[in-house]
Amino acid sequence: MDVKELLAGLYSEQGRQNPYPLYAALHELGPIRAIPDRPAQSTVSAVAGGYEVVDQVLRDPEWYKQSPPGWQDEEILRTFESSMMFVNPPAHTRMRSVFAKTFTPRRLGALEPVIERVTDGQLDRMAEAGAGGAEVDFVADFAYPIPALVMAEFIGLPEADLAWYRQRVDWIDEFLDVDGKTPERLSRANTAAAELRAYYRELIADRRRTPGEDLISGLVEALDSGEVDLTEEELISNLIVMFNASFVTTVYMFSNGLPLLLAHPEVVAALPGDDALTRGCVDEVLRMEAPVHFLARAAPRDTVLHGVPVAKDENVMLLIAAANRDPARFPDPDRFDPRRSGPPSLAFGVGLHFCLGAAVSRLEGRLALPRLFARFPDLRVTQPHSYSGSLFLRGVDKLFVSTGS
Ligand code: HEM
Repeated sequence: MDVKELLAGLYSEQGRQNPYPLYAALHELGPIRAIPDRPAQSTVSAVAGGYEVVDQVLRDPEWYKQSPPGWQDEEILRTFESSMMFVNPPAHTRMRSVFAKTFTPRRLGALEPVIERVTDGQLDRMAEAGAGGAEVDFVADFAYPIPALVMAEFIGLPEADLAWYRQRVDWIDEFLDVDGKTPERLSRANTAAAELRAYYRELIADRRRTPGEDLISGLVEALDSGEVDLTEEELISNLIVMFNASFVTTVYMFSNGLPLLLAHPEVVAALPGDDALTRGCVDEVLRMEAPVHFLARAAPRDTVLHGVPVAKDENVMLLIAAANRDPARFPDPDRFDPRRSGPPSLAFGVGLHFCLGAAVSRLEGRLALPRLFARFPDLRVTQPHSYSGSLFLRGVDKLFVSTGS
């Protein structure tokens, strides 16, 4: 199989359902390959799946995030391009430092009881819905509401707004996929960005009048006292991007992880009460079933990466989910082994843009999973599941289970 066939396979429905045989084929071809006969408008000249090369590019601060042409004309792209996730230093450093200060160990500690309370509430709902052997959608009752409610409380979004908010997140995520740049998806993403900006403007005004303990109140106070170097519009862009980034990713950590975990009943039985094993499970789920499959970076100058030339300002597609199964780094990469030692996976990225919320997601996994299995030791999946149509954010959107009660 050559690179062109491999990429076509990856973008097909079958490839999105199960890209792992294609990643294995890519590893056979080498750590990075040039993309032959690429369309004239494409700036992506190579695809990389080898751990070493993906890690090297992400860690190199000179490789940069390229803005799409004409971004100034679209509300969604203006929002992205004024948030830390999409910009380069020095703007990135300035914005990230403002938010990094809010993810302190103290704040994370304060999240623990929130996660436990939200999890127990959802487990009660699952027990109720699953009574008498009825099927329960694990995504609707566990994987989705836990990250949504935890992050909403952390940021300071009213719970009642979440259903409305979710629709806007979906519109933005559709646009982010490899083939998401259609006029309809762009238009929906622009609408989502405009509506979310208006929403946050109101929320900020409200917290200015009546501050609370949440992240928005803290950031507004810091902004108004001139403590932080951020405009209100940048604050809004970062809040939109942050909530978005925190969302489906963590949902998929749970929903992609459950079938994997249930396939190992001895691990599941040992989870409640074994914190080291739980941490290992969370990291192994993220390695094997990464919610984000690829990133991209542009070359700062003409260069050669593991024998493949990449011209200045051309992009390399960095398949982090393939790197996570690179046999050169993870022996027997398709085997689930929560006690694996070795390098960290690249599920949260690495380098300048390393996920700001990694500790939050890991904490959610560490606290919620043992509670789930302690409450429902006979939990099982009742129907075959499929994955979202997106390769960028790949995960299970519906997962029917029996709680065994
Ligand atoms: C399992 C869950 C998660 C996964 C797999 C994940 C994955 C990632 C990845 C791969 C990146 C790197 C992007 C890049 O290099 O271009 C990233 C960045 C980011 N993530 Fe996460 N994420 C998760 C949860 C969260 C949560 C809970 C939050 C918020 C609390 C969050 C906020 C962010 C932000 C703000 C960035 C941008 C950081 C920067 O550009 O400096 N993520 N995430």
